[in-house]
Formats: sequence, C-alpha cells, structure tokens
Amino acid sequence: MSDPRLIVALDYPDARGALALAGRLDPTLCRLKVGKELYTAAGPGLVEKLRQSGFGVFLDLKYHDIPNTVAGACRAASELGVWMINVHALGGRAMMTAAREALAGHPDRPKLTAVTLLTSMGAADMEEVGLAGSPQESVTRLARLAQACGLDGVVCSPREAAELRRLCRRDFCLVTPGIRPADAAQDDQQRIATPRQAVASGADYLVIGRPVTRAPDPLAALNAIANEIAQS
Ligand code: C5P
Repeated sequence: MSDPRLIVALDYPDARGALALAGRLDPTLCRLKVGKELYTAAGPGLVEKLRQSGFGVFLDLKYHDIPNTVAGACRAASELGVWMINVHALGGRAMMTAAREALAGHPDRPKLTAVTLLTSMGAADMEEVGLAGSPQESVTRLARLAQACGLDGVVCSPREAAELRRLCRRDFCLVTPGIRPADAAQDDQQRIATPRQAVASGADYLVIGRPVTRAPDPLAALNAIANEIAQS
C-alpha cells in the first residue's frame, strides 16, 4: 500500500469546497487532513466520503481535555476509520496515556500523534502563556513525554524536526505543518520551512494547507511540492 508523505489540510468552511478539491487530488499522492473548521461544519459524513474516495484521513481535532473525555473522543474517532488522530501533548502524561489505552486492541487503530507546540506560536507567545525556554526546548520535552506515553509520533514544526529525529525512536513519526514553498506567503505561521528543508530535517509527513488550497491551480502546486521532495 502506498504511504504518501504529503497531507493536504482541507481547511474549508463546508463540505462542498473540500470535496471539490478532493475530487481533483490523487489518493496515492496525498492524504487529507480534516481539522476543526471542516469537521465542525461537515462531521463524520464528510470523513466517510473522503475515505470512500480512497484517501487516508488525518482527523486533526487536537484533543485537550481530562483523560476520560479524551479517551472517549479517541475511541469515537477510531470508529471513523481514519488514518491518524491527535491530542495536545500539553494535556500531559495521564491524558496521553488514556488516549493510547483507548485505542489499544482496536483492529485497525489510527496512528495517535501529539501536537507539541502550534507552529503559529513564537517565543513571545510562549512567554505570554508561561512556557519557559525556547520553542525547541518545549517541543523536545513534549515529544519525549509523548514517546514515553507510547504515542506513535508528534506534530512539530520542521524547524524542530532534526533535533527530534536525533533523539526519538526511528519509527516515532514526525508530522510537520508550517510548510511553505520558497515563493509562498507565510500567512499566520511563524516556525516555517520549505518542503525540501522539512524532509532534510527528518519529517515523515508534511502538512500543507493554503499553499495548495489557495493556489490558482491546487493540483499543480501539490505536484510541484511532490517533485521538490522527490528530488531531495
Ligand atoms: O495553511 P497551512 O499550511 O498553514 O495549514 C497548516 C495546517 O496544519 C492547519 O490546518 C493547522 O490547523 C495545522 N496545524 C498547524 N500547527 C500545528 C498543528 C496543526 O498549523 N502545530
């Protein structure tokens, strides 16, 4: 089975836009990410449609709640047949452990990853919410905790991926948003890198939203990224 490294973030307000883009994409070239906006608007039905079209789906709902609630949410998400789900590592050890245990024994369980630090946050934002140290220090600490809790990987910025690749198990997967081809707008992201830099840093999966979804020709934009990483 193919294991596409590119994940297109379907950040659309409704199913119509998401399905229109999905209809132009190839499930052997990319997976699709359904985040809070689209899932809130379109729900499990949309996830099922994407699955039926052959796409692996990353359900990016970043659960962050008490352990019992997160465990229940993970169990419900695993029933949707998605490829990956995630929690916030800042929810802590008990919450991440409960999430992992909720999926144990599921015949076709999704990969479980933890968001370390949002790629939109810089040093000043961290200080404001009381997180001491550099982004790399926080990300490294949270990734180690996620690994100790038995999760399958983390979501991090490509800027922190190299250090995590060095420190974490080889099969601990690194999922990196904050991807910006050299000519793309930065938007609200802060800790960004090009597709080639992300792969060179050890990222396993690259999440790309607006550089594809807002491109005049999304398919051409995605193919250009696929070519860039194929050559690296
Ligand atoms: O449009 P853009 O490429 O910036 O989209 C990035 C996607 O990755 C968004 O859907 C965002 O929710 C998600 N994400 C992120 N930073 C994280 C985790 C997820 O940007 N740490």
